[in-house]
Amino acid sequence: QNVTQTLRLTTRPRPSQISTRLRLLSPIASRPLIKQGEYYDGPSRRWSSSAKWRPVQVLDEWVAKEARPISLRQLMVFGRSLTETRLMSSANYVRTELPTRIAHRIRDMQRLPYVVVTNPHISDVYELYYTAFDSFRRIKEIKTSEDNDRLCKEISKMLHAHLTVIPKLAMGILECSDLISAAELDQFMNTILRSRISRRVIAEQHLALTETFHSHWFSPGAKLSEGEFIGEVFIKCIAKDVIEHCAKAIQDLARSANPPDTKIPEIRVNGHLDASFPYILSHLEYIIGELLRNSVQAVIENHRRSRDPTSEPPPVDVTLCEAQQHVIIRISDQGGGIPHDTLPYLWSFGKGPLKNQLLANLGQVPLMAATLQELRVEDGRLLALQQNSEKGGAGGHDSSLSSLSTRPPNLRLGMGLPLSRVYAEYWAGSLELHSLEGYGVDAFLQISKLGNKNEQLATRAAMDA
Ligand code: COI
Repeated sequence: QNVTQTLRLTTRPRPSQISTRLRLLSPIASRPLIKQGEYYDGPSRRWSSSAKWRPVQVLDEWVAKEARPISLRQLMVFGRSLTETRLMSSANYVRTELPTRIAHRIRDMQRLPYVVVTNPHISDVYELYYTAFDSFRRIKEIKTSEDNDRLCKEISKMLHAHLTVIPKLAMGILECSDLISAAELDQFMNTILRSRISRRVIAEQHLALTETFHSHWFSPGAKLSEGEFIGEVFIKCIAKDVIEHCAKAIQDLARSANPPDTKIPEIRVNGHLDASFPYILSHLEYIIGELLRNSVQAVIENHRRSRDPTSEPPPVDVTLCEAQQHVIIRISDQGGGIPHDTLPYLWSFGKGPLKNQLLANLGQVPLMAATLQELRVEDGRLLALQQNSEKGGAGGHDSSLSSLSTRPPNLRLGMGLPLSRVYAEYWAGSLELHSLEGYGVDAFLQISKLGNKNEQLATRAAMDA
């Protein structure tokens, strides 16, 4: 790339931005302004003045491009009649879409207050994003299968490198939640997480299509798209099956996380048992897994405090409702409802006053161990793929839930509910909770069942702004 104008790009906002922002921030923020020529070096976590030139104009050019959203149906139609030409256009879509989407998030991070971007966890994420952006933007048009293989290698490498993003963000924002307003912080987190899901979807879809293409290419006569999956899209996701599968994993987890004599609640499924829709299985499993985990644990703890803890605990009831455009999944528990002081922070990533408890919890677990477990759930699909390929397998579509049982049961990053809602909204669905104080909780997950809605890249607050 012939860059005519280069500027020193730093994670710091321009001084004018800093001074306005600093006035709004805590006293920690009021340190002297940056010296000319300094920049923050993420990996070494130091302010440095040695030369590190980054072409700011290049980022501007990419930020000027709009993301081109896709729908589940498009992903399916595209993958159903896969040809080499289509594979190449998928490759070129990913090649330009990834740096575009990452560039927007880098710009968001540059707009964060200085004290927030200098947080070591957040600045690590910034560096990961910048490296990925810089690497993808340099990839030339994909014309041959060899070009595509090189692209796929780069994608796999980045998918792996970015496994640490969620826990780094979780830690970063907990540490910074006094330095930025809760609304700003949640808006930032919602956007960055939604964008991350979107990038991983298009990246993993392309890897899966390439794998499918190769396997069919080398076995002449095999028809494409005969399986239940097209790439990453599970064509006929039967809600009842997913729930029963998740229920079993969550009950096993509850058994291992609680004292041996603990009574584990039954999970019953009723309603429209045939309800089905196309979806990305790992997204649905993540949401259902989180909701059931919360319900089961609440029932166990509430029952322990009840008059007769030796009796059977009340069941968790899952009701399925299939309408013309949607499938609604209601999860009802009798776990006593959500404590009054927790309610305002349910969907917040910063967690308000509850953050100290989370930070204390995390302090008890070595961060890397903690984060890897959390990651296994969030990125279970990828890890399952990796484990399979390490075993020499072809990938397969194992559930992400096997990893749930290896997660430290009491480990909480405080992200489960808000991240579940990000997943639900990403494919134009919704997630709501109603707490019946003293009795239990009803969670409503609504899924758009036709697969014809575009991925929702902008959050509601961003669209209103
Ligand atoms: C992410 O996981 O945050 C990504 O952006 C993945 C992509 C670089 C392939």
